Amino acid sequence: MTATGHRTRPIFVRRHHTPTPPASAPPPLTGFADGEHGILLARRLGGERALPTSEGNVILSLDRLRRHMLVCGATGAGKTETLLRIAWSIAKTTDTPVFYLDGKGDRDTAQRFTALMSDAGRTSRVFPNEPYDAWRGAPHEIQSRLMEIIDYATDGPATWYRDLAKTVLRLACEHPDGPPRNTNTLLARIDQEALAAAHPTSTALAALTKEQIRQVRLRYEAFFGQTRQTLNGTWAWEDTTAAYLILDSLALKEETAGLARLLFEDFAHYFTTRKPRHQHCLLIVDEFSALANGSGMAARIEQARGFNTALILAPQVTAGIGDPTETERITGSVETIICHRVNTPEPIITLAGTRKATEHSTHYTPDGATGEGSIRIQHQYKIDPNKVRALPPGHVYIINHGQAMRAHIQQAPNGRQELPQPPAADVPVDRADAANAVAADSAVTQLRF
Ligand SMILES: Nc1ncnc2c1ncn2[C@@H]1O[C@H](COP(=O)(O)OP(=O)(O)OP(=O)(O)O)[C@@H](O)[C@H]1O
Ligand SMILES: [Mg+2]
Repeated sequence: MTATGHRTRPIFVRRHHTPTPPASAPPPLTGFADGEHGILLARRLGGERALPTSEGNVILSLDRLRRHMLVCGATGAGKTETLLRIAWSIAKTTDTPVFYLDGKGDRDTAQRFTALMSDAGRTSRVFPNEPYDAWRGAPHEIQSRLMEIIDYATDGPATWYRDLAKTVLRLACEHPDGPPRNTNTLLARIDQEALAAAHPTSTALAALTKEQIRQVRLRYEAFFGQTRQTLNGTWAWEDTTAAYLILDSLALKEETAGLARLLFEDFAHYFTTRKPRHQHCLLIVDEFSALANGSGMAARIEQARGFNTALILAPQVTAGIGDPTETERITGSVETIICHRVNTPEPIITLAGTRKATEHSTHYTPDGATGEGSIRIQHQYKIDPNKVRALPPGHVYIINHGQAMRAHIQQAPNGRQELPQPPAADVPVDRADAANAVAADSAVTQLRF
């Protein structure tokens, strides 16, 4: 109480105090701007707001990722670092499963990825160290997956071979004992006697010769002979929240593209059928040319967004995407493009569009400037191609809806983790195995009759 009888109220002085984070606090991984919440991908260096930006941090939301992304650049330009940054931040800040399909077969990147996933509290599956189960689904789903292995002609007279293989695989998959659930069973079934026993009244089978069936079998034996038991495993996309798939083009040679297409087709089966539709997932394809021949690739990419599936495709150059029509369709169906240093940037920078620029000229005579001149309005690329050719590693142009921003991608931590050991007995699938399986199958057949 004061002398005047008034009750005094304590006076609180409100100090505007911004707590400074302790020195050891890690920088934030997410941010919010323009109504979008997302991961912090890069520091903005200039240009338009191609992506939302808060205090110089470029924000990439899951919604934008779901509308797909192209990450392109020459070798050494920083593509893999960009992909790892996205994989790590998404794994750390959301519950979205993150898958990485590595067409270069880079074990060092695999070790980086598994370390980053561990940091995010996830255990990664690693293919082929941990064999994959490529045999899930109904007969027709397995059949179309198997069709992807061989790059069959889709037009011209050579399509007869495609039709032949399709019929043989259908008979092998629509078997009274159910579809094949491993390589050996499939190969054993691709045999005239085995098929005749399974489909005694089939007119399609009656139209095939023993030699035609043998030819189909030779193609698949060649493939599964290279991939050995790596596709007869126990895990698939739906069993994990992180996976790294190494497609070793040196070890697998021409089988790499077939394997990439098989896994991608199985991934499409996973996102359309095996995962709940509302659940997000992210597939990163680093070095995309192995998949480029797949004629259905663009359609799958367009389909993916309706299933909450985000794809990030990372070719070295746009020519690495596929034929020109396919390239145009794919670049047209991705929303965001991250362009690192490339030597031929024109196809990419065209997507950012042009701006009007004035060009001045001064008229001269042999006696010097006349004092007259002219001005022309010219359309110029928004992004200067020479600047793209000179970008240092990790520096990029981000292009989105015709807007272009220059930025520096933030790097993910640089740890490594040991990869799981491959199984000790990785027995090659050879003809002897297949022959044994045929013998076993015909023993069953004999019992049945
Ligand atoms: N955001 C970044 N900030 C700083 N340095 C970077 C960044 N990104 C990449 N670098 C540097 O550039 C090197 C090459 O990057 P990276 O391996 O990602 O290239 P790449 O485009 O994947 O090449 P390749 O096509 O050969 O696989 C890295 O080892 C790193 O030293
Ligand atoms: Mg790389």
